[in-house]
Amino acid sequence: MNYILETENLCKVYGKKKALDNVSIHVGEGDVYGLIGKNGAGKTTLMKIVGGLSNATSGTYTFMGRKAGEIGDVITNRGLLIEDPGVLENETGYENLVIKEISLGIKDKNEAMHLLEMVGLKDAARTHVKKYSFGMRQRLGLALAFVGNPGFVILDEPINGFDPQGINSVRELIKEKRRNGTTFLISSHILGELSKIATKYGFINEGKLLEESTEQELIEKCKSRIELVAEDTPKAVTILEAIGFRDYKVMENGMINIYEQVERTGDITNALAKEGIATIEIVRRYEELEDYYMKLVGENEANNQAAMLSNENSGIVNAGDRRTESK
Ligand SMILES: Nc1ncnc2c1ncn2[C@@H]1O[C@H](COP(=O)(O)OP(=O)(O)O)[C@@H](O)[C@H]1O
Ligand SMILES: [Mg+2]
Repeated sequence: MNYILETENLCKVYGKKKALDNVSIHVGEGDVYGLIGKNGAGKTTLMKIVGGLSNATSGTYTFMGRKAGEIGDVITNRGLLIEDPGVLENETGYENLVIKEISLGIKDKNEAMHLLEMVGLKDAARTHVKKYSFGMRQRLGLALAFVGNPGFVILDEPINGFDPQGINSVRELIKEKRRNGTTFLISSHILGELSKIATKYGFINEGKLLEESTEQELIEKCKSRIELVAEDTPKAVTILEAIGFRDYKVMENGMINIYEQVERTGDITNALAKEGIATIEIVRRYEELEDYYMKLVGENEANNQAAMLSNENSGIVNAGDRRTESK
């Protein structure tokens, strides 16, 4: 598979803090890649590196087939909204967009107004940015990221500063651009915000990528199910078939996961009992996306704590502290 963006063991160290720890993500063409993690997880750090605003301590990445440092002219095919939107205070919203268009050599007369409309700033198009609220600046930053119709757009927590209606229009904007072939890398600390648009997810916590999943894989993993452990697995499967179950999977440990008609646990135990098969365990599981994520994070933190304890015991100390970053 060819990826538009692929990172290879990216690390970023600030003093003794590992903001990124061997992060390898894979963003395919046309993906809306959702980078999910709590505050401080490393999302912005990763986006700054692949957006060319900061250098990795180690590791590398490939963007549109070019290695970091050899990106050259493909950089113009990339739109960014990372942290501070970088707007010109003394110009109007419209002028901000036109100035960026000129700098990119774009001659589309209608683009600026269309983008302002898409982010809900049409009425404020002629207002000076210094009069904009935080939310309006954020929206303008979003519009700026789309100037010149880039093939790849990085949006760091783009939903900040939007009301629920605004969030919907951002989603629509992303969907529309995606239909026209744009690939996205979008971060959020709220999984639910991205779950309606993302096609692939990267879960990040304390600088580590915990898991990468496609939308389909995540749905599979989070689906509600019955977990059944019966005395005789092959016989139990025959009985399940006989009472109308088709969507199930026998796991390696003999557990049968059933993904349909999850309300029928009583039917199952009755049918098994009738054939003289004992039910050892039967449970119904529901997993929300948010729970799934919390579980991943919880496992990671437990592992980290265990590792920290063993480091303390072995007397490892960290090297010096360096707070500021030189680019
Ligand atoms: N310039 C910096 N100097 C020191 N530490 C930083 C700097 N930038 C980020 N960090 C630290 O790196 C970690 C990851 O930060 P960040 O990438 O901003 O997380 P996120 O965007 O997921 O909230 C945090 O612990 C943060 O405090
Ligand atoms: Mg951030």
